[in-house]
This record gives sequence, structure tokens and C-alpha cells, in this order.
Amino acid sequence: MSIPRAAGPESRYMLRLTDLREILRYIPQFRDRVFVIAIDGAIVSDDNFTNLMLDIKLLRSLRIGVAIVHGAGLQIRQAAAKEGLRLSNSDGIGVTDPATLRLSIQASQSVTHQVLQGLADNDLRAAATNSIVAHPAGILGGIDHQWTGRLERIDTAVLKTLLDGDIIPVIAPLGFDGEGRTFRLNSDAVAVEVAKAVQAVKLIYLSAHKPPRLNGRTLRTLTTDETVAILKKHRTELQPVEAISKLENATKASKSSIPRVHIIDGTTPEGLLAEVFSNDGVGTLVHANEYQSFRKAQKKDLRAIHALIQQGVEADELLKRTRADVERQIDDFFVFEVDKNPVACGALHQFVEQKKAELACVYVDNRNENRGIGVRIIRYAEELARTLGHEVLFCLSTQAINYFVQKGGFQLGTPDDLPPARRLIYDRSGRHSQVLIKRL
Ligand SMILES: CC(C)(COP(=O)(O)OP(=O)(O)OC[C@H]1O[C@@H](n2cnc3c(N)ncnc32)[C@H](O)[C@@H]1OP(=O)(O)O)[C@@H](O)C(=O)NCCC(=O)NCCS
Repeated sequence: MSIPRAAGPESRYMLRLTDLREILRYIPQFRDRVFVIAIDGAIVSDDNFTNLMLDIKLLRSLRIGVAIVHGAGLQIRQAAAKEGLRLSNSDGIGVTDPATLRLSIQASQSVTHQVLQGLADNDLRAAATNSIVAHPAGILGGIDHQWTGRLERIDTAVLKTLLDGDIIPVIAPLGFDGEGRTFRLNSDAVAVEVAKAVQAVKLIYLSAHKPPRLNGRTLRTLTTDETVAILKKHRTELQPVEAISKLENATKASKSSIPRVHIIDGTTPEGLLAEVFSNDGVGTLVHANEYQSFRKAQKKDLRAIHALIQQGVEADELLKRTRADVERQIDDFFVFEVDKNPVACGALHQFVEQKKAELACVYVDNRNENRGIGVRIIRYAEELARTLGHEVLFCLSTQAINYFVQKGGFQLGTPDDLPPARRLIYDRSGRHSQVLIKRL
């Protein structure tokens, strides 16, 4: 997918209409939600940093909340080289001696400043925070880790206050204790805790390296369990080595209910937006295990499906169907399960000759509304219809017309768009439902 850029050589990227449709489909899901963006220190010095700031401006203009956590590894190493100093560690994981702590504070301040400046350049309000509460990591494996910290907690109230006020929190890999002491932390790990604290829907690592690869192939989509298995069995084969820390932290985030963790090469011009607004993405996605999923309905689901549909019939949202009706068409039905419970259903009726399919009986249980399940049903039906060789997906609605247009990308149609056999039933029903169509 291609994303338009402001200026410069990247302007070769052209926006196609299909791209725009794909982008628009994602926007409602993310509005008023928070993304935590974790930037490697090296990215701040990269040419692509200016583009990333523009991308963040675009996210904000779509009412997506953003919190930024940054690292400072590169800047710490550069400062050490300049002073001729030997670092006790440069990634916030090993021992931090007093000299390394001093350089870490200086380098972090400088990176924070550059991020604040980049955001200001895009008229975005931001604030550096002291929201990370830390204690000394202590003696680990018999070694005193000195000024390396253990993250105690995040001052969530500070972050939420800023986010509610449309201010981007900028968080350095430094923690503070109640006695005014500062500790060095690992920024990848800080990002996980920040994401948990603000209940982020995405944690995005903008790495200074290519996304994780195994046997020369980029790892595109992984569940938490798959990530754990790869780290266990193929740890030494993973490339680049920096990917290990990212994948480990992605697993932690994913296990702590952050739905999506992305690891992207922050130096690629269209990386961030392409990853967020396309189905395919460009980096590595680690997502929670499939506790939610679609499956074809079976006879054992009759009761649940009928109960779901019944709620819709009572509200005159759906056409009345008896249990026997559903049983006869059970092969057309699919259910969406959360923790193995059907909480939504739909059916795909095929009109093979006309290469048209009808998405019918869409119903999302009241307690599960507004969680994006309806949109996923539409996408699932679209994929299914496309795979079955159909050219048009249509549906009929009396009360969710705007929903199918605005969230599902359908267009208003007329009864003439219906296959003849369906038209007969339509005319007989007298419901005067709106016909909605979508070309596949
Ligand atoms: C319509 C329906 C499928 C939506 O499912 P859902 O999982 O709650 O919807 P999503 O989470 O994907 O989307 C929620 C968004 O759609 C909006 N929305 C929900 N129902 C809507 C409707 N009837 N008309 C317009 N917008 C609607 C919500 O306000 C919310 O908007 P926001 O994201 O801008 O805040 C569900 O409400 C439902 O089952 N309705 C009754 C049955 C029905 O009408 N079926 C269609 C005929 S086949």
C-alpha cells in the first residue's frame, strides 16, 4: 500500500482510491483510542524522523491519542565515545554505573528535546513527564546493578490527564523514586508498561532495524503463543539480534491484553501509516491468541443463533425466522465466538448464477456491541464471498442502513439490484428494506 508524503523524493507514493477505502475502514476503530509509539533513539537521528512526526500529526488529526516512549541507546554510545568513557551498559538492562547513568540522563534529555521539537514543528502539544516510578533493580545474580532501575509503577493519572487534554506524553527511559533519585530503564520494557497503563489498542515499536526475520523470512503475523515458541526454539536464529528484546516485550504486552503490537523498521518512509492502516502491514504483528474467532455454524449452534436473531426480530431489525428456518439454512450461517461463546452471527446466502451473495441475519449480542464485531462480520463475509467467486455482496436493512454505508463501505442500491429469486421474496415481505450493495 502506498501513502502520500509531504514533499521530497517520497512524493512518488501515490494514493489510490482503494487505499483510501482501506484507510477509512480503520479510522472508526481507532478514534479516541490510544497508540503507544516506542521510538528507538537512533530513529530520532534518522532522515525519516520528520516523516514520522508528520504521521503522528495525521494520527492525531483522526482523533487517535498518542503517547511516545523513546530510547537513547545510540546517543549514549555516541556520548561515551566522545568522552572516551567505557559504558557499563547501553540498553538499560545490565549494570548502570554512575558515569553511565550521567550519560544516560544527558542523552535522554537531548532525545526528549528533539521529540518535543519535532512535535512542536507540527503544531502538536506535548509534555515530558516524570511518570515512571522506579526502584533500584538491586543485586541480581550476585551483581549489584547500581543505577539500573526496576519499574515499580506508572503514574497513570498524569498520562491520562495529558491524553485527555490532547497533549502527547513524551516518556524517556528513566525512572524516579520518592527520594529524588533517577534510575536507568530499558525503553522497550517501559513502552509495555505505558501501553498497559493507558490501555493502548496498539503498541508500535519503531525500530532502527529491519523487522524480525527467521531463516531469512520476515515474521509477519504471530500470535502470542507462536512468539513464545519462536523465542524458545529459534532464539539464536532470529535476526537482527535486536529483534529478540522487541519480541520478548511484544509477548509481555500481548499477554497483558494489548491487542496488537507492531514492530516496524522506523527508517522506511511509509512504514508507520502502512502498518496501521492496511490489512497487510509492513512489519511484524504480534497479537493476542485467537480467543475471538469466526467459524461455520453447526447444528449445536441452532439455539444460540435463534436466540440472537430473536432479539433482532423483536426490535424489528431482522426478518422473523423460526428455528426450523435457521436449521434448513444452517450451512449458510457463521458465528463469531468470544471465549467459545457465540456472541454474534451472520449468514451468507449465495445466488450462484448472478455471482451475488447476500449477507443476512447479522446480529451482535447487545453486551458485545461497539467492539468492532459488526465490521469484522462484514469483512469476513466479503472474504468468503470473494473466495466463492462472487462479484457483489448485498444486504437488506431497515435500521442499520447508515452502519453498512459508513462502517461497512456499502452503497445504497435498489430492489432492481437483487437477484430475481431474492426480488420475489423482497416484494412479498412488504418490509421495504433498503438494499445495500458492495462490489467485490
Ligand atoms: C448494526 C450492528 C451489526 C453493529 O454491530 P457492532 O459490532 O455493535 O458495530 P461495530 O462495533 O462494528 O461499530 C460500532 C459503530 O457503529 C455504530 N452503529 C451501530 N449500530 C448502528 C446503526 N444501526 N446505524 C448507524 N450506526 C450504527 C455505532 O454507533 C459505532 O459508531 P462509532 O464507532 O463511530 O462510535 C449491531 O448493532 C446489530 O446487531 N444490530 C441489530 C441487527 C441489524 O440491524 N442487522 C443488520 C441487518 S442484516
